[in-house]
Amino acid sequence: MFDTLPGFREFPPDACAQRNHLFRVFRTVARAFDFQEYDVPILEPLDLYLEKSGEEIANQLFHFEDKGGRKVALRPELTPTLARMIAARANSLPKPVKWFNIGEHFRYERPQKGRGRSFYQFNADLIGEPGIDADAELIALLCTILETFGLSSTDVVIRLSDRATWVLLLDHLGISEDARPATLDAIDKSERRKPEQTIESLESANPDQGKNLFEKIQEIKGLKNLDDIVARLQACGSAGMERAEQWKGLVSRLSAHGCESMIRVDLSIVRGLAYYTGFVYEAFEATGQGRALAGGGRYDHLIKKLSGNCDLPAAGFAIGDMTLSDCLESKNLLPRYVTVPDLFLVFGESERDLALRLCSRLRKSGHSATYSLKPAGFGKLFKEAGKSGARYAIILGEEEAKLAEVKVKDLRNGSEENCQITRLVERIEHWDGEGGISSQS
Ligand code: HAM
Repeated sequence: MFDTLPGFREFPPDACAQRNHLFRVFRTVARAFDFQEYDVPILEPLDLYLEKSGEEIANQLFHFEDKGGRKVALRPELTPTLARMIAARANSLPKPVKWFNIGEHFRYERPQKGRGRSFYQFNADLIGEPGIDADAELIALLCTILETFGLSSTDVVIRLSDRATWVLLLDHLGISEDARPATLDAIDKSERRKPEQTIESLESANPDQGKNLFEKIQEIKGLKNLDDIVARLQACGSAGMERAEQWKGLVSRLSAHGCESMIRVDLSIVRGLAYYTGFVYEAFEATGQGRALAGGGRYDHLIKKLSGNCDLPAAGFAIGDMTLSDCLESKNLLPRYVTVPDLFLVFGESERDLALRLCSRLRKSGHSATYSLKPAGFGKLFKEAGKSGARYAIILGEEEAKLAEVKVKDLRNGSEENCQITRLVERIEHWDGEGGISSQS
C-alpha cells in the first residue's frame, strides 16, 4: 500500500470539521477587522523564494523543474507572492490594503510535533501604512483571533520585539552594516542552539568579537520590559530616542485595543525571515513550550525589492494550523463537530420515485436530507434513520402516497404528525421554530 508522504496529513471528516472550525474563526474575525479575502497560486517561480525569503526557507523548499524547463517551487509562505501582487496593482488599489488568505504551504522540514511538510496558514497583511497604528491593528487582530478560540493571557503570549531596535543597538556596539544580517541571523537562531554555536556564528561575522558580542547580546535579550528598552535606546542618540517613542506609542495603542495582557516585550524574538524591518512578534503558549503559534512583523522594503520602483510600507503575520490545533486540543477548546442530516426519508419501493422527487425539493429548500440507497423493510429503515442522527423521519408509505401526505416522526421525542406533501417545507420550518413536533399534536 502507499502511505502518505512524511509530514503530509489526510483530513477525514472529523479532522476536516475541526480544520473548518479554525478557518471559520479566522474568516469571521478578519471580516470584523474589515480585512478582505484574496487567493494566489500554490506553485511559484523558484527565484521568488531564493531571493526574498532568506536562507532558512530556501533550504526547505519543495522545488522541481516543470515540463517547460521552468524552475518552480511549492509556496513555503505567502509574503513574497503578496508583495508581487500588490506591486503589480499598486496604483489602482485604495490604501491601506487590508487583505487575508487561508491556504496550504509546504516546507521540507523534519516532521515533528507542530511541524509538518504541508500545513495551513492564516495570513493577514496591511499595506500602505507606515505608522504604528498598522502594527497595532494587526497585533489586535492576532490577539482577537486567539481570544475567539477561547484562549486567554494565561494560555498564550505574544512576544513583541523590534528589528529596528536591534539595528540601533548593534550599531551602537560598533557592528558594521555588512556584518548585520549574519549577526541578526545568529541572534535569531541562538534560542535553539548551544552558546558555543552562537559564539562561533558571531565570531565568523565579526572576527575577534564573538565571545564579547555574545555576552552583550545575551544582556540585550534579557531586557524584558519597556522602560529598560527605552533607556537603552535613549543612549543611542536621536534615532534611538525616536524609536523609544514608537515603542511607547505601540504599547499604548495595544492597551487601547484591549490586548495588553497578552503582550510580552521580549527582544529575544528576531524572526528568521530576511525581509523584516521593524516591529516583529511571535505568539507562543504561555508555558513557553512548543513551537510558535504565529509570527509576523513589518517588512517595509520587500515590495520595492520585488518591483524595483513601487515603495510601499507593509506589515503582516501568519498563524499556523498545526501548533494552534495542538494548543486548542490540549486545553479542550476544539469543539467536536458531528455532521448529521436534518431529515431521513423512509419509504416503500413503490414510492421510491415520488420520495426522490420530494427529497430533491427538500434539499433545494436548504435541508440536508438522506435515505437508504438499498431497498429495505420499514423496520430496517427506521433503524437506519435513528442511526443517521437525523431530527425527523419523513415516512412515505402506500397509504400516505394515496393521500398526497407524509407522516413526520420527531426522532428525539417520538411524536408524529401527518402533513400534506405540498406543505412539508413550511411545516418543518414551523416545527424547527417550536423546538420539534409537540406530543399534543
Ligand atoms: P513563519 O514564522 O515562517 O512566518 O510562519 C508563521 C507560522 O506558520 C508559524 O508560527 C507556524 O505556526 C506556522 N509554520 C511555519 N512552518 C511550519 C511547518 N513546517 N509546519 C507547521 N507549521 C508551520 C511566515 O510564514 C511569514 N510569511 C508570516 C508573515 C505574513 N509575515 C508577514 N506577513
